[in-house]
Amino acid sequence: MERELTRGKASRGRTAVIVGAQWGDEGKGKIVDVLTHTFSVVARYAGGHNAGHTVIINGKKFILQLVPGGVLRPECTSVIGNGVVIDPVAFLREVGSLRAAGIRVGGNLFVSDRAQVILPYHRMMELGSENAPGRVKIGTTSRGIGPSYEDKMGRRGLRVADLLDTKLLRTHIENACREKNMIAHALFNSDPLDADKMFQEYADAAEKLRPFVRDTAVFLNRALAEGKSIVFEGAQGTMLDIDHGTYPFVTSSSATSGGAATGTGVPPTSIDTVIGITKAYCTRVGGGPFPSELLNEQGEHLRKRGNEFGAVTGRPRRTGWLDLPLLKYSAMINGISWLVVTKLDVLDHLKEIPVCVGYKVDGKKTDEVPAQASGYDKIECVYRNLQGWAAPTQTIRTEDGLPKPARDYLAFIEKETGARVAMISTGPDREQTILIDDFVKDLGLKSQ
Ligand code: IMP
Repeated sequence: MERELTRGKASRGRTAVIVGAQWGDEGKGKIVDVLTHTFSVVARYAGGHNAGHTVIINGKKFILQLVPGGVLRPECTSVIGNGVVIDPVAFLREVGSLRAAGIRVGGNLFVSDRAQVILPYHRMMELGSENAPGRVKIGTTSRGIGPSYEDKMGRRGLRVADLLDTKLLRTHIENACREKNMIAHALFNSDPLDADKMFQEYADAAEKLRPFVRDTAVFLNRALAEGKSIVFEGAQGTMLDIDHGTYPFVTSSSATSGGAATGTGVPPTSIDTVIGITKAYCTRVGGGPFPSELLNEQGEHLRKRGNEFGAVTGRPRRTGWLDLPLLKYSAMINGISWLVVTKLDVLDHLKEIPVCVGYKVDGKKTDEVPAQASGYDKIECVYRNLQGWAAPTQTIRTEDGLPKPARDYLAFIEKETGARVAMISTGPDREQTILIDDFVKDLGLKSQ
């Protein structure tokens, strides 16, 4: 096996990481869907069912939370990697609704035996701590993501392989429930969870999960060695990354491109390209810094035009103008070579588009991104007004067909970030996508 897995780059399949370049919700789901036309495998590497990927195919809407977008293409295999935290009950519910919608799920979807399991006490701990006096309110999705990653790093988590081991599962749930119930009662006055009931529910879920489970690192490396191409599907976004985001207002995983290696077991030397996804403006859901936020009617207008409401929680998203210092930072951290600009059509009504081109702190220009959340309070955005196109773009299918100011807007983003524009999305449907020729050639994409 060893020789088979370490064959040279020349014969192995191509790989690309899709990463959110802002605070998540950039439209990664749709872009993964477009790319799966060419890539054989889609692998999720971080996060859990806090993510919500909306994909619209022939007018039919799918919201995927855990299952990678590849499942919507019959010829594609999907993988949930070891870096993901998986709630087996939520996973089975999602698989059930996909099947009910006529999507084939079985033999084309694998779950890592090393992924961490989210259990009900993770949600209990999260709800308690989010509402506890004196705690920083992150505005989480309440899915138990943070506490589950805490247990992983604390080396007291339960992995999928352990979930399938009934004896171990019972002992784990009994011990963990005793401990978590005591802590949650002492700190947050929470009602205790019933370990027996939990064991029954999760032992049952484990049996249904079993057919999906395998060593996905071996599967992925073998697929690469056989010349199959892999797209790594990021969840959330760079500014929500546990290390590089607006800490502590972040999620608890490595959402940036580096997470693709640790979160799947595919080595960094096997990653060819990083594709960053950015909206033509900015949004954020939950608490935390947002320098270019619009707290006025213009922001409300963007929210309405862009239908900016969370796919998972339904919360209204905060909106603002494009923030280039953040986008440059994101390009640096992720090594973004190609940039996909989504929701360009949301700006169709504007005659002028302000873009944040730099920051001022205490009257001095800087484009340094602060390490402390409090550092953002001092930031004043420096805006440049770019010409708007004030014309509809939703039906345009080629770059040349875009109005000149729209092409200039994209060229400005390219110049500032040093990344090339790869694709432009002008509407929610699979078809409302403009693919740039050089990108098609670089990735060896098939025409749509
Ligand atoms: P958690 O991931 O549920 O712990 O939430 C932490 C922060 O990340 C909160 O501000 C959430 O709103 C945000 N977040 C988590 N997942 C997503 C996502 O898929 N899109 C946008 N924001 C997210």
